[in-house]
Amino acid sequence: MEKRNSYNPAEFKVLRVCELPNEVTHFDLFIEQGGEMVPYTKGKHQWSTAEKVELLQNSNFVLFFESAKHLEVKGHLEGNPWRPPLSNDEFSLVIADGLSEFIKARYEFPIGENETTIHKALATALSRYLYQQPRIRNLLEQMSEHDPYTFYHCMRTAAYAVTLSSNVKLWDLALGAVLHDIGNLYLSPAVLNRRGPLKDEEWKQVRKHPEDSVQLVQNLGLSPGVLDMILHHHERPDGQGYPHRLKKKDLSLEVKVLSFAEVFAALTNPRPYQKAHSPEDAYQLMRTGLAPFLDETLFAPLARLIGLEPALESLKVS
Ligand SMILES: [Fe+2]
Repeated sequence: MEKRNSYNPAEFKVLRVCELPNEVTHFDLFIEQGGEMVPYTKGKHQWSTAEKVELLQNSNFVLFFESAKHLEVKGHLEGNPWRPPLSNDEFSLVIADGLSEFIKARYEFPIGENETTIHKALATALSRYLYQQPRIRNLLEQMSEHDPYTFYHCMRTAAYAVTLSSNVKLWDLALGAVLHDIGNLYLSPAVLNRRGPLKDEEWKQVRKHPEDSVQLVQNLGLSPGVLDMILHHHERPDGQGYPHRLKKKDLSLEVKVLSFAEVFAALTNPRPYQKAHSPEDAYQLMRTGLAPFLDETLFAPLARLIGLEPALESLKVS
């Protein structure tokens, strides 16, 4: 196979390595190297856990296939769901699974090569860090089992957060985002997936999750900035957030970026009680109905991230 052009969402789609079953695939797969799409497998290929682990250990969390093959790939994956085993002495496949989601979120939007490099470097650094931090890794592995939505939501939030501002402490932001909802381990699946409104007692439990999150990680060597982000990711610039009703001036930029990215990640992912919003609809909703909850300076970077033309952006918010 010949080398192809650089990544173009219209031409290629992203496939997380962790999604591949240990089966034979019949579609061509590509890998991104230096911004180019390079052939990885052609036609029939038998997958094994060992090969996937090797790819993941080399920070290749995603592969690519031609968009025209979308239905074939989708059909194949739906018939062969594969979840990583929960423990592996050399490398946590659960963590790799989450980092695959982190990298995949980057490819949903046409961000620049610089950001791609940053994403990959952060994913690799997170992977190394979590390998050396068994207690934090273990919490994430528990979350992956307890509520896969929260696990992937945190990874997607981290991916969006690190693209929204260049003036933040990126490492703190990524780590804080990955762990911000870890307190959901204390919430039952019934509450986490409730279709209807929550009862008062359940709502009280939900509002406790930032404090539960901090309590779970507070003696694990995280920086004060990371703990602050986790504790305050539901505070709001209008002072009506929880748990401390902080005012805008008391919120760090990292907290504001995390809560902004968190809302976007939540709106664009399907839940039992809500269909996924398109990125444009989510933007519009945030700009109008949710504006008092969010830092206004982050709308322009979000518009750029999702490819809204500046003219269209001003039209939509006027
Ligand atoms: Fe939260």
